[in-house]
Formats: sequence, structure tokens, C-alpha cells
Amino acid sequence: MHSLEQPSLIGAQLLHDPVLNKGTAFTEKERDVYRLRGLLPPRVNSQDQQVARVLENLRRKDTDLERYIFMMALQDRNETLFYRLILDHLEELVPIIYTPTVGRACQEYGHIFRRPRGIFISLEDAGRVANLLCNWPYKEIRVVVVTDGERILGLGDLGADGMGIPVGKLSLYTACGGIDPTLCLPVTIDVGTNNENLLRDPLYIGRGHPRVCGQSYDALMKEFVDAVEGLFPHALIQFEDFGNKNAFRLLAEYRDKTCAFNDDIQGTAAVVLAGLHSASKLTQRSLADQRYLFFGAGEAGTGIADLLVAEMKSSGLSEKAARNCCWFIDSKGLVVSERRDLAKHKVRYAHHHSFMTDPVSIIGAVRPAAIIGASGQPGVFSEAVLKLMGGINERPIIFALSNPTSKSECTAEAAYRCTGGRAIFASGSPFDPIVIDGRKLVPSQGNNVYIFPGLGLGTVAAESRRVTDAMLLAAARTLAGEVSKSDLAEGRIYPRLARIRQVSVKIAVAVAKAAYDQGLTAQREPLDLEAYIRDQMYIPTYTDYA
Ligand code: NAI
Repeated sequence: MHSLEQPSLIGAQLLHDPVLNKGTAFTEKERDVYRLRGLLPPRVNSQDQQVARVLENLRRKDTDLERYIFMMALQDRNETLFYRLILDHLEELVPIIYTPTVGRACQEYGHIFRRPRGIFISLEDAGRVANLLCNWPYKEIRVVVVTDGERILGLGDLGADGMGIPVGKLSLYTACGGIDPTLCLPVTIDVGTNNENLLRDPLYIGRGHPRVCGQSYDALMKEFVDAVEGLFPHALIQFEDFGNKNAFRLLAEYRDKTCAFNDDIQGTAAVVLAGLHSASKLTQRSLADQRYLFFGAGEAGTGIADLLVAEMKSSGLSEKAARNCCWFIDSKGLVVSERRDLAKHKVRYAHHHSFMTDPVSIIGAVRPAAIIGASGQPGVFSEAVLKLMGGINERPIIFALSNPTSKSECTAEAAYRCTGGRAIFASGSPFDPIVIDGRKLVPSQGNNVYIFPGLGLGTVAAESRRVTDAMLLAAARTLAGEVSKSDLAEGRIYPRLARIRQVSVKIAVAVAKAAYDQGLTAQREPLDLEAYIRDQMYIPTYTDYA
């Protein structure tokens, strides 16, 4: 999967190629061979010196949005240095290049826009989508992240300005999963936007018409998937931040036809399932032995429940019994069978129970071990909710997953304070550690970044034709297995982000193994699968061109 090559470019063109450029790190010999003499300052820097310089500049910026803009400019200038910097400072930089800052960046995308990255496909391109993909400068693509911008994080319809998301996600595939950046393709399908502010904004980068749906939307998506399959036969397609309706439809349409998954539905599910596996170690209760109350019955919530049900079934529970463990509240109230307004994906979790709307009364009736927030509604885990969870559970599981931070169902501080520090807490966006009664508690971040880079690496390394539940379950179990006793003692239910590359390799091995076991690939399983996968990983150090 490597794309290393001796540059065919020379002089200024080489300096302006972000994949090949090394900036001040070009050696004396390379400066002669590639006609760079005079174009660079005389002193040759090491990559470490370059990292120190960019870090100093980055930290001088006043806001996270400015840091984001700085990072994007670095990516456009010198990709190797960009990835070296991220890998060396993951905990500091993942929140800059991804959630929460990327959300802010997408809200401002048309205003901070400097240089395009990725392929934009609009309705006007119907009939020539393959030609557009051929315009991309790299011909071997293994991971495609595609959005239509309708539901960017918890921020709603950002239309073509949502391109920041596929770009950011793919940066994480490379940084955390070691997928070579030239094998990654960000795509935005621009079918319009219903965001009035954007339609009025002269600097908006997309087509200025309302969102188109129906037949022409479906035909464009089909043409896109077919074109990817035709041009890049071993590529994984990740559907990202599609609106609720299309997300479920597209996943149902393509998951059994091509190598595709939806990160909001399935990636979230795997990362949360891993968190629940870890929490089980703290509560000493099995997954099947407790109830889960979801706030939010959308992509994230029902995706988590579906995978949780698959996991409980794999341990011997019947489908019905497993579903009976999962309860939902949506914008209207408790999801129950007497309701006639339920979308299809909610019906399978509608239980025979009286309809209720007050979350505190619902918790009193359902008595869940865990509340899982995927509602995009800040504050729905009120003090009363949290205190009641602490009252009925020794170690209440509180997952406030909505992004960005401003949408979180509660803060880490509230979760710990209202439960006397007993909560097992995870959130979608990061929170700082809290000290309660002299004890340091580290909130966990149920970030999909723990799953999708390893899932992607394993899928493409094995050249799997599909992404199956078995692969997702393997990823979740492996992630939970990477949490150490000392992590758990501090309240962490995920490994430290600094270990993400090692964790991604382990996940990739488990995912690839599941693909081989299910006969999803024409490849023979390598004798040393881990070595085979490690050998394919991109490492952001400079190659000697001379
Ligand atoms: P969605 O729009 O598909 O679903 C939202 C759901 O929340 C709907 O079922 C809606 O009826 C419900 N809801 C609205 N108000 C509510 C209330 N007051 N109480 C209970 N439910 C209510 O959105 P999706 O994709 O499921 O995402 C939801 C949130 O989860 C977003 O904020 C997103 O950022 C977050 N998320 C977090 C991830 C992570 O942390 N790893 C990954 C994916 C999503």
C-alpha cells in the first residue's frame, strides 16, 4: 500500500508538491540533484527541528480555528511533516484537526477557504462522475470518505461546506491507522443545502439551491458508488454525516453489495460497545444482565443498540431478549409500541409500555444501568437524571456522546458531581480531568477515531469485499482489550490516544482475521498477519531521494 517513489519533479515544482516536499529538510545532495539550490534557505534542518518550528508557530495562534487553518496550510505544504507533527502530539492535535474544531471550521468553511482538497460532485455532474474521479491526481485509492453535508456532527446541514469532515477523517485514517495519504480520497456530494444562512452567503462554496432528494439523488449516489467500484476495486467507502433518512437507506442499500460502512451508525456503535465492554469490567455485570436507555433514536443511538444486540446474541441471548434490554427516548418521549409516529429504524425497539415523556420518570420505570446520549440536545442529562442514575446504580454508566462539546447531554463535571464521583463517564467531545474529593477522574472520549482507522486498515489490508457485523464486533472487543488496569482505575474506558497506532494495528489484525474467517476476500491469510499489516503502514519520515 505504499506510494513511495523517486520524484519526477524538480525545482519549485517539487517544493510545491505537498506529498514529496521536505522543505528545509532537503539534504545537500538532494538540493543538487533536484535543482533546489538557492530556492531554499542554506541551513538544512532535521525533521525534529521542523516539528519544533511548526509547533512553536501553531501554539502562538490565539484560537483553535486559527490552529486548524494553520494545520490545513501545513498539510497543503508538507504532508510528511503534517503527519509527523500529529503523531508526536496526538492528544493536542486530534481535537484541532477533528472534533470539536473541525465543526467550527465547517461552519466557516466558505470564509476560511484557501485551497481545495477532495472531489466535489454536484447534480450537474450526473453522467460524468467517473471522469471527475479520474481528475484526482492519485490512481490507486483504498479509502473513500464521502458526505453530502446534510448532518455535519451535531451542527446540521452545512451543504458543501461539510468537506472539512471527509478531509479531517482521512487525516485520521493516515495519522492513526497508517493508511498512506495518497491512497485516501475525500468526496463531497453537493445536492444543495436547506441552510438558509448558507444560501444567502455569497462566500458559500456549494451550489446555491435547496437540497434535492428522490430519484436524482439516488441515481447520483449509485453512479458514484459504481464509479468508485469500477476505478478503485479494492477501496473501502465510508459514508459520513449523511442526514438520518439517507444514512439508513444508503447503508441498507450498499452494505451487502459493496465494501462500505457508515461511521456515524456503525463506527459509533463499535466504539460505544467497546466502552460498555470496559464498563462491564468495572461494574462486574455482563452486558446481557442490564438495561440501556438511549436518549436519541437516530443514527448513532439505534446503530449502537443494533451492534449491542448482535453482541448479546453472540453470547447466546435471543434477539428478542437482547432487544428488550435496549430502551429509547426520542424527541417526543419513550419509544413504545402504541406510538404510530415511529420511523422504521425505531420500531424494533418499541416495547409494550405506557407512553411517558419525563426522563426522570422513565428512568424510574426502566431502571437502566446505562444512559447513552445521542440526541444532540445539551442538558438532557439533567441533575435530577444524573442523581437518580447514581441512586439506582453503584457505578452508573453515563455516556454523553453528542458533538461538539456545546451539544453534550451533560458535562463530565456534572456527571461526577451528581454521582459522588461514581459515574463511568464517556463523551463524544473531550472534557478535562476532574478532581473530586482529592481523586483525579479522567473522562473518557468515546471518539470514533478509536475504531475507524483500525477497521479501515484491516479491511483494506485483507482486501475484504464487505464490512460485516463480525468485523465490527471484533474491532470493539479488541479495543476494549487494549484498556489497561491502570486506565480503568482512573476511570478511563478507552486506551490513551497516544497509543492509537498500536491499538489500530491490533484492531486491524482482528478485523482482517474476521474477514478471512468469513471468506470475504480472495487473498490467502498471511502466516504473520500482524507483520503483514504493519508492513503496509505509512510512517511519516522523509525518504532519501538522492
Ligand atoms: P440523528 O439526528 O440521527 O438523531 C438524533 C435523535 O435525537 C433523534 O432520534 C431525535 O428524535 C432525538 N432527540 C431529539 N431531541 C431529544 C430529546 N430532548 N431527548 C431525547 N432524544 C431527542 O443524529 P445522530 O447521527 O444519531 O447523532 C446524534 C448526536 O450523536 C450528534 O450530536 C452527534 O454529534 C453525536 N454522535 C457522536 C458520536 C461519538 O461521540 N462517537 C458519533 C456519532 C454521532
